[in-house]
Amino acid sequence: MNLRLPGPIPVPEPVAQAGAAPMINHRGPEFASLIQRTTEKLKQIYLTKNDVLTLTASGTGAMEAAVVNFMPPGSHALVITIGVFGNRFKELVSAYGGIATVLEFNFGSAADLGQIKDALEKNSEIKTVFVTHNETSTGVTNPIIPDLVKVVQDHDALLIVDAISSLSSVEFRTDDWEVDVVCSGSQKGWMTAPGLSFISVSEKAWKRFEENSQPRFYFDLLRHKKALADGQTPWTPAISVWFSLDKALDMMIEEGLDAIWARHARAGQRVRDGVRAMGLQLFSQEGVESNTVTSITVPTELDGLEILKIARERYSTVFAGGQAGLKGQIIRFGHLGYMPDSDLDSALDALRNTLVDLNFKA
Ligand SMILES: Cc1ncc(COP(=O)(O)O)c(C=O)c1O
Repeated sequence: MNLRLPGPIPVPEPVAQAGAAPMINHRGPEFASLIQRTTEKLKQIYLTKNDVLTLTASGTGAMEAAVVNFMPPGSHALVITIGVFGNRFKELVSAYGGIATVLEFNFGSAADLGQIKDALEKNSEIKTVFVTHNETSTGVTNPIIPDLVKVVQDHDALLIVDAISSLSSVEFRTDDWEVDVVCSGSQKGWMTAPGLSFISVSEKAWKRFEENSQPRFYFDLLRHKKALADGQTPWTPAISVWFSLDKALDMMIEEGLDAIWARHARAGQRVRDGVRAMGLQLFSQEGVESNTVTSITVPTELDGLEILKIARERYSTVFAGGQAGLKGQIIRFGHLGYMPDSDLDSALDALRNTLVDLNFKA
């Protein structure tokens, strides 16, 4: 199967093999060395000197950790959303007793800084801002993060970014941009199986933590920070995924961040060109297309679910469909992490053949 999802993604053979190593004591010296090494390497990819904590949870776990650790109950938050994953922050904020002002932009487009400024000016009580860097549900990358940081700092608020499907694949500079809290997840550009998520925490965010009375336990990040100082995690970690991550990080550091970002930019262009050449249109607006996932509008005369089925059954290629209100309306083609050009080209062939089978004429 050619797995062309925006996560989980195909895991390179050496990474898969690393995950098959025998178990170790998670309270012993081997794990201490493993967690210390991976944390240092994660910081290299995050481009940060801030704390980076690894949680045994999927990406949503890191998002939830951000909310419970840094957003006091009853406090005001601005949730900027351009899709399904931005909406997840809205749900999390409400679930933990926050008061969310939601700024929703049309799906397929990026967030607009001017409107964000207006929203903040209208409500001086907003102390936390949530945003998605790369909206996987629509195939859009929000280019505003560095400028948004300044706006949020002027407002004396904390910025929490979901970079789950971008960090490690496209440019993201945690320290240069001064982003307080950044979430990511192992099954995306990190070339590892699902099961681990990462969260970086700035000094400013730790101050917020101290003032925050929100109840927390599994995702209490101070427990994680203290355990890390002892070479441990507070709870039993997903050791096999961690072994794989260690190998994947070595491969990423060997390739180099600039080379990784350039490879994703080329992959994004290759897929967009290929899709347009079939007479299909992109769902994402021009100029903000993601280099980790391409969203394709399903032509009105076709059935999106049928496309997915034929591609999978006849051409052994798995694309993702649309989520929530976009079900059946878009196809999402993942290109992040480990993705030889030949895999991208054969997935393009699979899509083209599927269209031919469905008698689509552009
Ligand atoms: C941008 C974004 N945010 C959040 C998530 C949720 O992560 P998970 O499914 O690992 O909990 C995903 C996963 O697809 C994502 O792409």
